[in-house]
Amino acid sequence: MKPAEVGREVFYNLALGICSSCTMVQQLETVPGNVVFGSGYPYRSSGSAVMRKHFERTAQRFLNHELAGAGRFVVEIGSNDGVFLKPISEAAVAHLGVDPSQRAAELAEDEGVEVLVDFFDEDTAGQIRATHGPADVVYAANTLSHLADLSSALRGVDALLADRGVLVFEDRYLGDIVTDTRFDQIYDEHFSFFTVRSAQAAAARHGFELVDVKRLTVHGGSVRYTLARPGVRPQNINVAELLSQERAKGLGDPATMLAFAERVQRVRGRLVRLLRELRESGRQVVGYGATSKSATVTTYCGIGPDLVSCIYDGSPAKHGKLAPGSHIPVRSPKTFSDPYPDYALLFAGNHADEIIAKERAFRKGGGRWILYSPEVRIV
Ligand code: SAH
Ligand code: TYD
Repeated sequence: MKPAEVGREVFYNLALGICSSCTMVQQLETVPGNVVFGSGYPYRSSGSAVMRKHFERTAQRFLNHELAGAGRFVVEIGSNDGVFLKPISEAAVAHLGVDPSQRAAELAEDEGVEVLVDFFDEDTAGQIRATHGPADVVYAANTLSHLADLSSALRGVDALLADRGVLVFEDRYLGDIVTDTRFDQIYDEHFSFFTVRSAQAAAARHGFELVDVKRLTVHGGSVRYTLARPGVRPQNINVAELLSQERAKGLGDPATMLAFAERVQRVRGRLVRLLRELRESGRQVVGYGATSKSATVTTYCGIGPDLVSCIYDGSPAKHGKLAPGSHIPVRSPKTFSDPYPDYALLFAGNHADEIIAKERAFRKGGGRWILYSPEVRIV
């Protein structure tokens, strides 16, 4: 947020519930999509080298399989800056990105990607089908979890998909969030937290079958789900295997979520204690990654500029602004080294390897990272 906006922030209640029948975990309150996503939405998929490689590889896999052959058509829901669709456009395969964030869409268009600047739902899906014909693949990464009206999106996919087409979506995995106590993954944008069981139930409610699942390491642990119309594709054994792992872990049990909540409270106590001790002993502590996740941590733990003096972040759109809620100033990582602080609290744990490698001179010079998932630790 801009410094002038202090005092005009809107706060929402961040709380999760679990469905007693299908075990889907979702937020209990909705932040309207047009408040979060629009021309000012700052996230850019290409900001991470790891994610760039991930999407290029995923696109290549589709080009070799589902999109091989004449006349294929792919729609991406939440195409952002076009990193996934660019290789598909370069391969001259018919495609359409759908994303309401205009500035991200402009970046995609600059790369030769065709984008419909809009929210994907039942209506837009019908329009796309009418103008472009049926899609062989509908792909969505880190986007179905963002939609408060998942049903409308799945009805839209049903309207859009060719008879033998597939919906492939990937999202952060509740199993990893719970196991690794990654509570910072809970923030306004992340409305649904999928498991294989809840994804399968959502698929079945809309006439689809979950035919494959694959665990991914991106974003701290994700799962890629493949849905098709019933009987069209054989079901991969991975589905039954991951379902049985979920049952063994008690992932659909309310008690598992309550135990998770208790671990989160313990982490809060330890993190705040550590930051206060460091302040009292005169150490300089900064943050790294002005992520949406950081707002969950700072708001829930009551961390402000007195404990974390500033946050370094590589997104130019965030420089000179304040982190919402905590009002901690955001700076360019170009100034991280002048001089290096004693400690950096990593608010982008999902990009830990990439950031720690990029900033290796910080640790070489005696600086230390503070991580808080699954436990508070200094590395
Ligand atoms: N797929 C990209 C971007 C994920 S961020 C990646 O994985 O990196 C989520 C994206 O979904 C944002 O670009 C946002 O603008 C977009 N989005 C939000 N609601 C949407 C909707 N209803 N339809 C299509 N895109 C949507
Ligand atoms: P993201 O993973 O989307 O987190 P969130 O959804 O919680 O905002 O964003 C990553 C943030 O981390 C983004 O603001 C850019 C920043 N970042 C860096 O500053 N340096 C890096 O090397 C990487 C990978 C990310």
